[in-house]
Amino acid sequence: MEISTLFILLLALDSSVHAFGEGPFQGWFQSVPDQIAGPLPVPSDLIVYQDQNPNVSRSATFNPFENTWAELGPDSVLRNAEWTWRVNVSQFYAPYNGSDAVPSDRQAFVSQTYDFSWSTEGNISEALDGATGPLCITQLNAWTDLPVNVTNGLTDGTSCIPALGQACVDAILNKTPRPSIEEGCKWGDYGRFDEMPECRGSFGRDRGLFGTFGAGFSLGDATNQINSGDTFWVNMSGPVLGYETWLYETVANQIQLLLFSALLPTSTQSNTSTVPGMELLCLRANNAKLPDFDINKDGIAVVGEVVLLSAGTSTTAGVDLLTYLGFMALIAGVVIG
Ligand SMILES: *[C@@H]1O[C@H](CO)[C@@H](O)[C@H](O)[C@H]1NC(C)=O
Ligand SMILES: *[C@@H]1O[C@H](CO)[C@@H](O)[C@H](O)[C@H]1NC(C)=O
Ligand SMILES: *[C@@H]1O[C@H](CO)[C@@H](O)[C@H](O)[C@H]1NC(C)=O
Ligand SMILES: *[C@@H]1O[C@H](CO)[C@@H](O)[C@H](O)[C@H]1NC(C)=O
Ligand SMILES: *[C@@H]1O[C@H](CO)[C@@H](O)[C@H](O)[C@H]1NC(C)=O
Ligand SMILES: *[C@@H]1O[C@H](CO)[C@@H](O)[C@H](O)[C@H]1NC(C)=O
Ligand SMILES: *[C@@H]1O[C@H](CO)[C@@H](O)[C@H](O)[C@H]1NC(C)=O
Repeated sequence: MEISTLFILLLALDSSVHAFGEGPFQGWFQSVPDQIAGPLPVPSDLIVYQDQNPNVSRSATFNPFENTWAELGPDSVLRNAEWTWRVNVSQFYAPYNGSDAVPSDRQAFVSQTYDFSWSTEGNISEALDGATGPLCITQLNAWTDLPVNVTNGLTDGTSCIPALGQACVDAILNKTPRPSIEEGCKWGDYGRFDEMPECRGSFGRDRGLFGTFGAGFSLGDATNQINSGDTFWVNMSGPVLGYETWLYETVANQIQLLLFSALLPTSTQSNTSTVPGMELLCLRANNAKLPDFDINKDGIAVVGEVVLLSAGTSTTAGVDLLTYLGFMALIAGVVIG
């Protein structure tokens, strides 16, 4: 593709990319608001219903903060604990009355949720053996699209090792500084995996302005009640105009990566000492093997580039071609830039 064509496509896309980044709702440890007014006048019941009846869902178990178990008290509920992490992705239609609405008044939306479940009694603080400090979480930045060969490594379980490799996982766990709890779970400037030499093979190349990490978020100890099975993250898109299948397939196939950290009490006595715990999890809602085919010939195939070629999913026929090519160009732009 000629450079000039690429810029035209990028320009053509600018407005839709904007709408796309600003979903009506994105949040950690909070429920969907009762009513979302304005361009998307839907009650939260609809979103919650769709999240609970997703197009694709996958869950896997893990042993939370296993590396701290030896240091916890003998009766700690965390020792030998098994939690389940579930990722749901749904695509659905809702009325839309925004100014850029197309002739149909029904627009597609893509929503994604995470939940944890555990078998012990009580809320997440009790499941963390009474931890009161924030549970600091961070994830891959929105535009980080990993290479297909790395993504295909992940088929089941929550371990990131099959995708990122042992050295990269060790580097993330050992070199990422613990977030500053005083500053509300600030993860600091470091924590860009693409700057860790051990991770260059998986995260590929310099992504310029598109850092690997988004911001950190905190679980306050008083106002948020998170129980087993509750949504702890929701990311609902804005209206998806034209590229609905592409967005859904990309979100469903990409590696979801979570890094979280907490100070775990070593006994049930008050004012007890704590042990810092760090946990890294990876999961793909749709773990189908994607074709490793470098469509734009820039030397690397990323998920958003190939999802519509994948067998068993829809073809590009349903997608506006300009938008589709534009996203390819955008990915190329991100990767080259
Ligand atoms: C439709 O959109 C307009 C402008 O965004 C807004 O004022 C109005 O409340 C919306 N309609 C509904 C039913 O929410
Ligand atoms: C995820 O989907 C399952 C059904 O596959 C549903 O039972 C669960 O409530 C959903 N989770 C969330 C957080 O909506
Ligand atoms: C997701 O499921 C809904 C029905 O619940 C359906 O209308 C929609 O087409 C599905 N989307 C995809 C991408 O399969
Ligand atoms: C993926 O492909 C790149 C480039 O061909 C290579 O450097 C890297 O080692 C591969 N990674 C895996 C996990 O196969
Ligand atoms: C969890 O429950 C305990 C005991 O009922 C309560 O003190 C605490 O505030 C709750 N915390 C969260 C995060 O739900
Ligand atoms: C949230 O959803 C939007 C699509 O609406 C997507 O572009 C973005 O990557 C998502 N954010 C994360 C952190 O996955
Ligand atoms: C715990 O520490 C606080 C402040 O450091 C102190 O006021 C309180 O008395 C201590 N509680 C116990 C049971 O030691």
